[in-house]
Amino acid sequence: MLWISRLSGFFSAAMMMVVLSPSFQTFPPAEAIRSSQMDGASPRHGGVGNSGPLLQLSFRRAPVFGNARECGVPGQSRPGVCDPGLVHVAITLDLVYLRGSIAAIHSILQHSRCPESLFFHFLVSDTGLETLVASTFPNLNFKVYYFDPDLVKDLISTSVRQALEQPLNHARNYLADLLEPCIGRVIYLDSDLVVVDDISKLWDTDLGTKTIGAPEYCHANFTRYFTDSFWSNKQLSGTFSGRRPCYFNTGVMVIDLRKWRHVGYTKRIERWMEIQKRERIYELGSLPPFLLVFGGHVAPIEHRWNQHGLGGDNVRGSCRDLHPGPISLLHWSGSGKPWLRLDSKHQCPLDVLWAPYDLYLRSF
Ligand SMILES: *[C@@H]1O[C@H](CO)[C@@H](O)[C@H](O)[C@H]1NC(C)=O
Repeated sequence: MLWISRLSGFFSAAMMMVVLSPSFQTFPPAEAIRSSQMDGASPRHGGVGNSGPLLQLSFRRAPVFGNARECGVPGQSRPGVCDPGLVHVAITLDLVYLRGSIAAIHSILQHSRCPESLFFHFLVSDTGLETLVASTFPNLNFKVYYFDPDLVKDLISTSVRQALEQPLNHARNYLADLLEPCIGRVIYLDSDLVVVDDISKLWDTDLGTKTIGAPEYCHANFTRYFTDSFWSNKQLSGTFSGRRPCYFNTGVMVIDLRKWRHVGYTKRIERWMEIQKRERIYELGSLPPFLLVFGGHVAPIEHRWNQHGLGGDNVRGSCRDLHPGPISLLHWSGSGKPWLRLDSKHQCPLDVLWAPYDLYLRSF
């Protein structure tokens, strides 16, 4: 019976609202986050009584997705975060990418055989998003974790794309500390992607002795992810000696949190971020520290799990094509985002693949 409601796929209109701060309207999105998080003055969105023009976002309520018969009957009550047999997924939620995160969650639920066995871990730096998620996805198992932007405020430097230096981008470095100690494995996903396959297949990835797994791209020119001053400093670049590092995208990772905690990888990442503050060893945001720490020690995952780059060029807006091969996950990494392009009627051909998961109603 549950799967019937899953198939019905019809959206009952439910109004969910987030009240955003006035600053959100007067700055481009990336600026808004920066200005309000960096100066730390006021929370990014207020509730009733906030003065000034308010931007309100509303989302349709997603259908209820139920387990298929072979998943086993879920218990009477919702599973607890430490219950065995759950698939754990971590995603950030912030006001700028909210529409993307909601679509990502929707896509995961829709393609999952056992959606009631999924548990979502949401990393937020804003308040109020919990209510919105709960009303958009009835029956969703989730927990919200507050990520304090101050944790990384002193560690991040300005990068080519300002959006890459949002503190919340670095929340993935802290999953092992933020999530419940009982969680031994998590799938980390960016907010600008949709999953079009059963995520439990990704969850079942064998990491071997490795701490993280991700699709690797060994043909990419690894050199260009770091500055000349990094490569010419033998003490720094020597970190890669004896390794054969390949580029990987940190937007899709399977992480063994127990190994991570045991080795203390968060500190290792922070150490590189501190070096970056002093010496400028890379240009991009949260990615290079991962390459430095894990490059050459990544459990390879099939490329179908990260068809990345669909956002297009970092500098000018351009459309990308799919890489050859099967597809389980579409990732609009790069500067363009499908929801912005669809709204502006300048969409790329592949953006229509994102649209079916969009639950956004309107802002007013
Ligand atoms: C890789 O990139 C570096 C720096 O941009 C460049 O100097 C080098 O020639 C490139 N190597 C290849 C094989 O393309």
